[in-house]
Amino acid sequence: MAAAPTGDDAKCYVLVPCAGSGERAGAGGPKQYRQIAGRAVVAHTLAALARVPRIEKTLVVLAPDDHDFAANAPGFAGWVERCGGSTRAASVAAGLKALARRGVRAHDWVLVHDAARCLVAPAALDRLIDVCRADVVGGLLALPLADTLKQGDADDRVIATLDRSGKWAAQTPQMFRLGVLQQALARAGDQVTDEASAIEALGHAPRLVRGEPDNFKLTWPADFALAERLLTPADEIVAVVPARDFELSLRFYSDLGFDLDDNDGRLATLRRGRLAFSLQDFYVAAHASNFVMHLLVDDLDAWAARCAAFAAQYVAHGVRASAVERRPWGLRDMTLIDPSGVLWRIAERPRAKEQA
Ligand code: CTP
Ligand code: MG
Repeated sequence: MAAAPTGDDAKCYVLVPCAGSGERAGAGGPKQYRQIAGRAVVAHTLAALARVPRIEKTLVVLAPDDHDFAANAPGFAGWVERCGGSTRAASVAAGLKALARRGVRAHDWVLVHDAARCLVAPAALDRLIDVCRADVVGGLLALPLADTLKQGDADDRVIATLDRSGKWAAQTPQMFRLGVLQQALARAGDQVTDEASAIEALGHAPRLVRGEPDNFKLTWPADFALAERLLTPADEIVAVVPARDFELSLRFYSDLGFDLDDNDGRLATLRRGRLAFSLQDFYVAAHASNFVMHLLVDDLDAWAARCAAFAAQYVAHGVRASAVERRPWGLRDMTLIDPSGVLWRIAERPRAKEQA
């Protein structure tokens, strides 16, 4: 490609086009300010971006007459410009100009990310940055098409089945160097629907970096209910397990494979995937020795192997791990007694066919 000035000192900036009117969402009013799980769509988007330390600064492009952003993105510490245009490409082009005015250099990277993609995962952003920084062109998050692709006519009748192989659905962010992207958009005009197509028109081949299905763009009315489900934390019920020697029990559960989520010195939260419980610096022998945790797992043998591997170190503290057995009530299980005398009964989750 044309000699874009390169250098290891190139920094990463984000440009968020946030100046659309959300017509297809049909709710009256821009979709980026619809409330989902307690805050505006754009606030979720900006919170996800803020979790990526390699992003130097984020610029949000608003419509010139926007009165809603400040109230809907409290605490946003990036740059804001009211230079949105009549198409997404026009908003992005104006935002790139604003970045250059603020000192972003032609060889710095710009990740353009839709305000309306509020479920982007920080891990996917990191993956994109890693791949693109090592690439001469740059690239975009995208998903290989899973469904069979149909060409429809004006009456919603199939007129052709298209070859799906090698087809990807483009997402954002799309990450290119500022200077090249400015040239590309100036050449491609205001109608392109993403940055990559403008870059392609210059003769370059952007890298496709596999994204995740959650990073969909809120577009149609039903998308909002789906985002609400995905962004609403699931309700939880958490048992409070007693501990005779709090530090010892923390070590024991960390060896068992739980991560420490939170610890104020008297009460700690331990997590392993979707499993969680609290550990409390509280001990009454009769309580602890009658306390039972019943855990249902898919891979009992892996749990048994893990317990066998570390429990011996805690024998002096009363820890015991039994072998796996099939019980008269039909479950395969094992038992583990923790350093406070709490009994864990770890059982294999019955398979659907055994339940039937
Ligand atoms: N966008 C923008 N300026 C425009 C049009 C769109 O900044 N003139 C932004 C939107 O705010 C959104 C992103 O570009 O974050 C993706 O665009 P799209 O999903 O098309 O949003 P809208 O244009 O708002 O929706 P619609 O096309 O249904 O009207
Ligand atoms: Mg649009």
